[in-house]
Amino acid sequence: MDTEITLRVDGADHRLTVDTRTTLLDALRERLGNTSPKKGCDHGQCGACTVLLDGRRANSCLALAVAHDGAEIVTADGLAVDGQLHPVQRSFIEHDAFQCGYCTPGQIVSAVALLDEAAAGWPSAVTFDRPDGAPDTGPIDVAGEPDEIQERMSGNLCRCAAYANMVPAIQEVAR
Ligand code: FES
Repeated sequence: MDTEITLRVDGADHRLTVDTRTTLLDALRERLGNTSPKKGCDHGQCGACTVLLDGRRANSCLALAVAHDGAEIVTADGLAVDGQLHPVQRSFIEHDAFQCGYCTPGQIVSAVALLDEAAAGWPSAVTFDRPDGAPDTGPIDVAGEPDEIQERMSGNLCRCAAYANMVPAIQEVAR
């Protein structure tokens, strides 16, 4: 069944008719021509399709477009403003934090979300590195805690294994 929806993507409104089974990823890539989010696994496993969906990171391959009528979506393309790269985009380039680049848009969107979560005072996810094994109830420490970054970026896979340079790239923006 076809349904008409509106999506605000990278600051521009789009009215489109989609089949109710169309994923948000397919709507972005195939209907709107925004190829920034990538189709890796198409099963919610790799994070290549990550976008900001109403301010929160989401795997767009797992979201049905019709369920997000009226949503605001930001892709890696939309992070640059007035021709200026987002600080996370610049930092990934400066730290050589990618190899083939296929996963990079999703990695960058996820890193932007991580920094937003830290700024909002979300609690730490790191519990495995504490000497007493006690849960860390403090806020996310992106600038000083590499384990925190690795844990919170673990939904974004990189087959080239460029992880080592992503951590300092994200830390630099956090400082
Ligand atoms: Fe969506 Fe892999 S393509 S998580």
